[in-house]
Amino acid sequence: MEGEIELFDPVTVTFKGGQKEPFARWYPYLEGYSTQFVEAILEKYAPNAQSILDPFAGTGTTAFTASQLNKTAYFCEINPVLQFLSLTKIKIRQLSPPQRAALVQALTETKLSVKKLEKFSQDHSLHQTYQATFGDSLFFNAPVYDQVLRIRSYIDEVTLENPLLANLITAAVLSALVPASRMKRSGDLRYKTPKELERQTVPFIEGTCQNIEQMIHDIRNDVDGLKTEPMLICEDARSLNNISPLNIDTVITSPPYVNGTNYFRNTKIELWFLRCLKEKKDLTRFRAAALTAGINDVTVSKTPTLSHPDVQKIVSKLETHAYDSRIPRMIASYFSEITSIFKTILPHLTPDATIAIDIGDSCYAGIHVPVDRLLSACLQDLGLKQIDHVPLRKRKSRGGMLLEQSLLIFKHNSNQKKKLQKGNTFTGALVGISSNKIYPTRDHRLLNGIGDTLDTHCVPTRANSNQLLHTIWYKHLFLKMDEF
Ligand SMILES: C[S@@+](CC[C@H](N)C(=O)[O-])C[C@H]1O[C@@H](n2cnc3c(N)ncnc32)[C@H](O)[C@@H]1O
Repeated sequence: MEGEIELFDPVTVTFKGGQKEPFARWYPYLEGYSTQFVEAILEKYAPNAQSILDPFAGTGTTAFTASQLNKTAYFCEINPVLQFLSLTKIKIRQLSPPQRAALVQALTETKLSVKKLEKFSQDHSLHQTYQATFGDSLFFNAPVYDQVLRIRSYIDEVTLENPLLANLITAAVLSALVPASRMKRSGDLRYKTPKELERQTVPFIEGTCQNIEQMIHDIRNDVDGLKTEPMLICEDARSLNNISPLNIDTVITSPPYVNGTNYFRNTKIELWFLRCLKEKKDLTRFRAAALTAGINDVTVSKTPTLSHPDVQKIVSKLETHAYDSRIPRMIASYFSEITSIFKTILPHLTPDATIAIDIGDSCYAGIHVPVDRLLSACLQDLGLKQIDHVPLRKRKSRGGMLLEQSLLIFKHNSNQKKKLQKGNTFTGALVGISSNKIYPTRDHRLLNGIGDTLDTHCVPTRANSNQLLHTIWYKHLFLKMDEF
């Protein structure tokens, strides 16, 4: 037990454990865990793992750790901001030493231009999408907002010459936006209190330059780069059922907790800057595609299709006691959707595959929702065998109830081997992106997924004119990178 506590210490199981790590620190993701946590899981439960999947990748901690250990890494992630950050890091970390040195040089020069933004005009169309999406909400003070609109034009100009450099600047801006704004991300995005405004606001240009400085340091020191190339196999984990079996021997993941975090609303400023939001409806559409984990994710179109009797019991209790009728629906939908996602993962597993899930329980209207126990029941119904349950960390609900974060370990039932060989035909017909290779990953379920989103919204304009580039920005970045 003591050894276990050492192996999974409470800090590495949260984003704090990784917040100072090279590359991970480019975007502090509160919902993430650390490299050490993934390494500890592999060491204890899957020392011989070769092929790893994270269906809810966030910032890609599992995929990057696996790749660093020379393993094949696949991931799914539905949020374009997080996809963008992972894909950019993947590209950077595959550069040859001379390419890396040239990029570091270019990035160093960038800091001067970032300090002279008055040379660039405001991006008017970005301003229009702000108004259409956020209405009168003032997330930034006027001078900061002016800088944000100008830096967008500057980045578009850099894109014409050097798309990878432009993406690095974009990444630096993405993590400077919220600290420079009137907002704070703590779970959801909310307005800073007057004290927080005073103490926690980081000037936009200074924050961006600090981020660029960190990037320069990390890129310079990343001598070995990545050993394998992590692959965004599909955006929505539900689409795994459109892909030929991947022969995964270990899944390490942390699905959204059903605790109300809205995984799109809390990145809405970054989504807007990436031109993924043109109007209010876009945010709703993204939310509808994500796993139901918050009250606002509950929509009429999301009808639970699978129900375990243990889940049903809690749902019935909530139906009687909850102050909002969406709460029982949210719980029912969560377990129905997560079970069906794991069902789509099964055909990708090797017979003795290990599945490690980091999960936290919840509490609504004073009723404890034992997410770990319920998830375990749902997955055992699918034929997975639970072999361990490791308590990781205690935390308190808003109402003061003691909640727990746990690690659940399952083994795939090898009797399912036969089923694995079925369904070898790939039914999706789209193109995924990983360097110069083409994979069946683009998924149409999410109408506004990154490929579609960036193709339609993120095409940069030449400064001072609205002339669209002929080259699609995203494809230009991720398919033509070897020209760098
Ligand atoms: C708890 S976070 C994972 C954090 C990750 N372990 C890390 O270290 O960064 C869960 C992620 O699942 C993503 N997600 C939600 N629904 C999804 C879906 N249907 N398909 C793929 N990803 C999804 C969310 O956008 C979020 O980034």
